[in-house]
Amino acid sequence: MDNNSPIGILDSGVGGLTAADCVSRLLPDESIVYFGDGANMPYGNKSREEIIRLANRMIYYLEGRGVKMILLACNTISSLKSSLSCGVPSIDIVSAGAAAVGQIAGAGETVGLIATKATVDCKAYDKAVGSLGKGITLISNASTSLPKIIDSQLENASLLDEKIRECIDPIVLSGRVTKLILGCSHFPIIREEISLIYPELELIDPAEMQAKMLKDYLSKEGKAALPGKREVKLYTSGPPTEFDATLRRLAIAPDDIESVVWED
Ligand code: DGL
Repeated sequence: MDNNSPIGILDSGVGGLTAADCVSRLLPDESIVYFGDGANMPYGNKSREEIIRLANRMIYYLEGRGVKMILLACNTISSLKSSLSCGVPSIDIVSAGAAAVGQIAGAGETVGLIATKATVDCKAYDKAVGSLGKGITLISNASTSLPKIIDSQLENASLLDEKIRECIDPIVLSGRVTKLILGCSHFPIIREEISLIYPELELIDPAEMQAKMLKDYLSKEGKAALPGKREVKLYTSGPPTEFDATLRRLAIAPDDIESVVWED
């Protein structure tokens, strides 16, 4: 493992491509190995034990590809970070999201959070934001259907519209929120759709802060990649076409996309 070893990024599906996109923009010399567990998503409706088992398998896979560190791009997985077995340094997206809230929200403010059921239920964001000590509280709502729709039916505009409203309306109707954390990696993919319905909301994408934290960490540790041949490889346990619709919305251009069949 050396400076030019890749950054590993993992997610339950296509969502973490938003983190890969942020890393590509901010750190254009870094190689990336991405894994999306499309065959098993959605994670957000699974048990804690199952999420840990599946996440550890992805971590093991990425470590086998010689990554120098791992970005946990999935909020649902990041919520269980302390239970994961990761042998390389990692940055979780919930800590990044909380740090972003700490920069953007004022003391005592109420901020909205949309995430998966698993993330909302375990209160990982409430704890992380609470530890900022700014008296910021969250109004949260989970969607059990949106991540899967984004993963496999991104072109279905009317279904997206219906499910976005179902998830965000209860938060907005509280009348107390002007900022909304996109606490599921899939949600920044439909950022434009959300902004069209709720133009008054300031959207917080934790992946942007996660990429900044990565940059700071690499420069502090002297581990940043040296300019040279950079590679972006995407792996999925789903069909090889799985990333197509999402990639059309992002700037990231992979060199290779490969389907992996898990051996259970
Ligand atoms: N990518 C996951 C997250 O950020 C959610 C999608 C899923 O339910 O698998 O929480």
